[in-house]
Amino acid sequence: MNHTTNAARASGRTPFVVGIGGTTRPGSSTESALRATLRHAEELGAETRLFGGEALAALAGYSPEQGERTEGQRALVEAVRRADAVIFASPGYHGGVSGLVKNAIDLLEDLRADERVYLDGMPVGCIVTAAGWQGCNTTLAAMRSIVHALRGWPTPLGVTLNTAGVRLFDGDGQCLDAQVGASLRTLAEQVVGVRSPMPGN
Ligand SMILES: Cc1cc2nc3c(=O)[nH]c(=O)nc-3n(C[C@H](O)[C@H](O)[C@H](O)COP(=O)(O)O)c2cc1C
Repeated sequence: MNHTTNAARASGRTPFVVGIGGTTRPGSSTESALRATLRHAEELGAETRLFGGEALAALAGYSPEQGERTEGQRALVEAVRRADAVIFASPGYHGGVSGLVKNAIDLLEDLRADERVYLDGMPVGCIVTAAGWQGCNTTLAAMRSIVHALRGWPTPLGVTLNTAGVRLFDGDGQCLDAQVGASLRTLAEQVVGVRSPMPGN
C-alpha cells in the first residue's frame, strides 16, 4: 500500500510526510496528537511538515472562483504536492470534520489537474479527537470518505481519541497515556511504511 513512501526510499529520497490539523485552542489535543505522530514519523526516518491550528486559521475561506493564492495557501498546496504521505487530524465538531480542517482540505482542489491527482495512491493517516466515542466514530468515517474522494488510501489504523474528562497530553505535548502513544506510533509506522525497532534492539 505504501508505494509512495517505498518509492521515495528506493530512489534514495527521504519520505516526506505532511500533517494538517489541530484547533486554535492553546494545548489543542488534536494538534498534540498530530505533532506526536509526526515526531514518530521523524524517528522512522521521515522529513515532516506541520500545518497546525494557527497556520490553518490564517488561510482564507476557500472560494472555488478565486484563483489567487496567499503565501500560506501556496505553502500548503506545494507541501502536499511533494508529499509521500499525509496525516489529517480533526476534532469532531457536530459529528464531523471541523470547518478549519475542511477549509484546508478544500484547498487541495488545486491538485486536481496535477500529474498525481489530489492524493492519488498516497497513504493518509487519520486522527480524530472528540468528547465522546460517537463523535469520534462519525468524524473518522467522514474523514475517511474525504480521503477516498481525494483518491488517497486511509491507513488501516485510524486513531480516535476520546478527550472527555481526560488529559492525554501535557503542556509540552508529551503523551500521558501509553496506549494512545502506542496507537500514534503505529499510525506513523503505517504512514511511513516502516516498523519501529523492537524495544531493546
Ligand atoms: C463547536 C464544537 C463542536 C463539537 N462537537 C462535538 C461533537 O459533535 N461530538 C463530540 O464528541 N465532541 C464535540 N466537540 C468536542 C471536541 O470534539 C473535543 O473537545 C475535541 O477533543 C477538541 O479538540 P482540541 O483539544 O484539539 O481543541 C465539539 C467541540 C466544539 C468546540
